[in-house]
Amino acid sequence: MGSSFQEMWRELLPIGRHSDSGGYRRHAWTGADADCRAWFRQQAEDRGLAYEVDRNGNQWAWLGDPAAGDAVVTGSHLDSVPDGGAFDGPLGVVSSFAALDELRARGARFSRPLAVVNFGDEEGARFGLACVGSRLTAGLLTVEEAHRLTDGDGTTLAQAMEAAGYDPEGIGADPGRLARIGAFVELHVEQGRALDLSGDRVGIASAIWPHGRWRFDFRGEANHAGTTRLVDRRDPMLSYAETVLAARREAELAGAVATFGKIAVEPNGVNAIPSLVRGWLDSRAADQQTLDTVVGGIEKAAREYADAHGIDLDVVRESFTPVVEFDHALRDELGRILTTASDHLKVPVLGTGAGHDAGILAGRVPTAMLFVRNPTGVSHSPAEFAAEDDCVAGVHALADVLEGLACR
Ligand code: GLV
Ligand code: MN
Ligand code: MN
Repeated sequence: MGSSFQEMWRELLPIGRHSDSGGYRRHAWTGADADCRAWFRQQAEDRGLAYEVDRNGNQWAWLGDPAAGDAVVTGSHLDSVPDGGAFDGPLGVVSSFAALDELRARGARFSRPLAVVNFGDEEGARFGLACVGSRLTAGLLTVEEAHRLTDGDGTTLAQAMEAAGYDPEGIGADPGRLARIGAFVELHVEQGRALDLSGDRVGIASAIWPHGRWRFDFRGEANHAGTTRLVDRRDPMLSYAETVLAARREAELAGAVATFGKIAVEPNGVNAIPSLVRGWLDSRAADQQTLDTVVGGIEKAAREYADAHGIDLDVVRESFTPVVEFDHALRDELGRILTTASDHLKVPVLGTGAGHDAGILAGRVPTAMLFVRNPTGVSHSPAEFAAEDDCVAGVHALADVLEGLACR
């Protein structure tokens, strides 16, 4: 197994890596994304798996008959956030192929069809909405909504898909495909330090916090930075800045998280007071009520600051994912499989604040996740890391799980 994992990892490493930051820019329907997709297809073909792209651009590699039903599916995504790390997404896809190699080496006999999947546009880095490929498939994003998505340059999702050689008119819900899946298991690098602190290589997911993205548009008046008296200004940057501090305060009070990680300023000149500051809030909490309280508190504060500075404010919720509780029966089955396998005596069950395609599918298909230890907990950054030994332990664990599920 080790060699197939390492070889795949080496092949993927240079794709979409930015030479200055060392981070990955594998955004949906770009050249780097196409290179990742070509890599996936090659892996499927090298293994004699049946390769297909579904109507939403997700890639599948099948062992056994996809039409037979009750399939066991594993995989993740290959796209990244801006300057993301190497592991978020690719670890799950590479581990899936490596686990399949391991099962074949063990001489496993499959009683259910097995597939490896690469879901498109999981991070939403380009079009602002996360998990577009899985949301479309699950019917949680309508075709009309998808066609309204645009990137920062005004390119629509449809134009981007078409330029990459995919048919944007074909997108939409795919209930028949989901009905043929009996279980989905996504392996992912942990995006926190729970496993590091507990001293375990691999964990099982319990739940995903509810989370969403909100766009705050603060509109004021553009003017000269040198000649406009402070009292005469309608500067939206002030209300934006105060809102960022309010977000921190509200999140702290509630034991939640709130982040303004992206901002657009118009006209964006050093010597011009902005006419518009647009900030995107990402907020997450352990439960829906807490999240509502946090976001409501931030919006209320933003309105007060905007009023005080003569600023117009619009707040739009761009996306939302409710709390996800992974299927208890499947979760318990994973626990049983892993604890009876010789080298995993203790497998902690962890919640996470990160979103995943598994969270989208969980409403339609019995779904589970495995996490692999990340010693610093850093993610969505070039510093994201998992040790090779832990990645190998993740592949073994995934192979055990797939064998337990698909070779009964
Ligand atoms: C995806 O990784 C997210 O949690 O935003
Ligand atoms: Mn991510
Ligand atoms: Mn991910």
